[in-house]
Amino acid sequence: MERQTVNKLNRRLLRNFQAKKSDLAESEVRILSKLFYDEQHFLIEKEALFLKTPQPIAFSSEIPEPNSYLALEVLNIPIVLTRDHLGVLRAFINACIHRGGKVAEGAGNAKKLICKFHGWSYTMDGSLIGRPQESCFSTEKPECSLIEMAVCEACGIVLIGLTEDVAVSPEDAGFNEIAEELSGFEFKHYRFIHRKEYEVAANWKLINNLSLESYHFATLHRETVAKVLSSSSIFDTFKRCSRWAFPLLSIERLEKLDESDWPKTIEGSCTYTLFPGVMVIVNASGAQMIRTDPGEKPNSTRVSYIGLAHPDATEEAAQGAYEFGGKVFEEEDLSAAIHCQKGLESSKQDLIVGTNEPLLQFWHRLWSDATR
Ligand code: FES
Ligand SMILES: [Fe+2]
Repeated sequence: MERQTVNKLNRRLLRNFQAKKSDLAESEVRILSKLFYDEQHFLIEKEALFLKTPQPIAFSSEIPEPNSYLALEVLNIPIVLTRDHLGVLRAFINACIHRGGKVAEGAGNAKKLICKFHGWSYTMDGSLIGRPQESCFSTEKPECSLIEMAVCEACGIVLIGLTEDVAVSPEDAGFNEIAEELSGFEFKHYRFIHRKEYEVAANWKLINNLSLESYHFATLHRETVAKVLSSSSIFDTFKRCSRWAFPLLSIERLEKLDESDWPKTIEGSCTYTLFPGVMVIVNASGAQMIRTDPGEKPNSTRVSYIGLAHPDATEEAAQGAYEFGGKVFEEEDLSAAIHCQKGLESSKQDLIVGTNEPLLQFWHRLWSDATR
């Protein structure tokens, strides 16, 4: 991030911190509770927000070098990302052309992918190169390549098209306006730490909402986050993405320094939200991604939590930040989302979203516009 931008954001954070306030929306809004449990609406959302839109699904540094691969599921679609010997990134449906078995599991480094079921093998560019008992098959090998999906890398983030005809670029994905800023972090040079997945009994939007407001810090995170971070947040919205930041309690130290001596990074944590709601959280020791994929029902979600270490951060600091964030997210945030889901399904009361939850308002408006 450019020095000028960092200083500007730190200035705004310091101002809000000292005034003990956050950037606010203009007025309170209501959000229909049925948007979180209505089956019909759920299917419309899946189609419009996930299947027909490019999806940020991973950090480039999860598949860092030639011949690396990463198998994952997005919306129950098995996918394998590969780099060939030249480092070219590709994406395939992780389904063997023989009878649909998985050709890769987890992540690693290999020159070819081998299906565990009967041993068909594929090069990293998806071509079938071997099959046991070859003489039993008459379909030519070139007709048995893995099914390729549209994929691209931008700002150190992998974008994919889950259905045919979905164009994938930062512009198509809606974060063109902040692409330059995101590129400035150079995530591709960060070290991959870990990818964790959770199955959560709550609507995907309730889980996204957790990372879009700081109103809950002083209560839900009283003993954890609130001990180090202030809830005095700032936010900026763009056409289809947002930036939200909140300061460390130590931000007051900047008051005593000349701006030219201010840190090169934000004195706090900054979350970029990419359409349809993928969180990219950046702090001094690294970056994390939180992705929510709707499951089979409105109240089921698969959450991926991925951690990277900043090249200058010690292993201990980066791992510590990833684990601390994960623990709070799992034990405090996700539990709250599960309770809210049950509560909304039972009470059927529409949500009341205050002026102090501006990004909830913004994202619900975007989701509703896209599904109208
Ligand atoms: S399903 Fe892959 S080798 Fe048979
Ligand atoms: Fe939280």
